[in-house]
Amino acid sequence: MKIIRHPTDMQRWALEQRRAGASVGFVPTMGYLHEGHLSLVRLARARAEQLVVSVFVNPTQFAPNEDFTKYPRDWRRDERLCREAGADVLFAPRAEEMYAHDASVSVLEARLSAGLCGVSRPGHFAGVCTVVAKLFNLVLPTVAVFGEKDAQQLRIIQRMVRDLNFPVELVACPIVREADGLAMSSRNARLTPEERAQATCLRRALDAVEHAFARGERDADALRKIARGAIERAPLARIDYIELVDDESLDPVVLIEQPTLCALAVNFPSARLIDNTVLRP
Ligand code: PAJ
Repeated sequence: MKIIRHPTDMQRWALEQRRAGASVGFVPTMGYLHEGHLSLVRLARARAEQLVVSVFVNPTQFAPNEDFTKYPRDWRRDERLCREAGADVLFAPRAEEMYAHDASVSVLEARLSAGLCGVSRPGHFAGVCTVVAKLFNLVLPTVAVFGEKDAQQLRIIQRMVRDLNFPVELVACPIVREADGLAMSSRNARLTPEERAQATCLRRALDAVEHAFARGERDADALRKIARGAIERAPLARIDYIELVDDESLDPVVLIEQPTLCALAVNFPSARLIDNTVLRP
C-alpha cells in the first residue's frame, strides 16, 4: 500500500491510473476507522481495480465551537486497517496542503443543506461539498462509496455529482451497527460508559417508529412523538432534531405517502450522535 501525503502526488498517481484504463474506487473518511468504514472499503474494493482510501479530518466542515481538535485520531491503526482491507493507496494530506491560505472558492449546495443537520451546523455541508469536490479532483475515482449513516450528506453529495457533472458513480452502503444497535461512529469513542449505555436510545427510537409505521401509523407528528418518548427515557440525551422528510427532496412530510427519511440527531454531553431509517409505504 502506497501512502500519499501531497495532493499533487495523489493527482499524478490518479492520472496515471486513468490513462492506463484502470477503474479507481474511492472511500473518503476522517479516519479513526471502524467496521462501518471498512464495509465501505470492501464495497469499493469489489468494484474497482485500484482502491484509494483517504483519511483527512477536514477543518472546514467543523464550526469554531465544534469538536475538530477533539476529533479522535489513530494514524497507526488506520494505516494497518487500510492495508489489511486491501487499499492500494492511503491518501492523508495535511490541511495546509489541501487549502491555500487565501482559498476563496467553495461548493455550496443550497436546498438539501438547509434542514436537519444544516440548522445546528451552519456551513458544515459547504465544508463537506468543497472537500469532497477537491478529493474527487485529486483521486479521479470512477466509483466512490458513502455511508447511509450520514443520510443527508449522501443525498447532498449525490446532488452535487448530478448538478456539477462529476464523472463518478456513487454507491451507498447500509449502516453498520454495534451488537446493541448503536450506529458505528468515530465519535462513539468519546462517550463515557454511562452515555454509551444510553446511546442505544437512537436505535430504540427508530425501532419504535418502524413498528408504529408497520402497524399503519402514517402521521408524521405521531411518529415524531413516539421517537421523542424513546429518547427522553435517556436522561443524558438532548434532542437536536427528530425529522420526517421526503427521502429525495428532504422537505418536511405531514403524511407518509412516499419514501420518507426519519432522521435523528441527539446531543450527549461528550458527543453529538445521528441515526436514521427510511420508511417505505
Ligand atoms: P466519516 O465520518 O469518517 O465517514 C466516512 C464515511 O463512512 C461516510 O460516507 C460515512 O457515511 C460512512 N460511515 C460512517 N459510519 C458508518 C456506519 N456506521 N455505517 C456505514 N457507513 C458509515 O463522513 C465523513 O467522514 C466526512 O464528512 C467526509 C465525507 C470524509 C468528508 O470530509
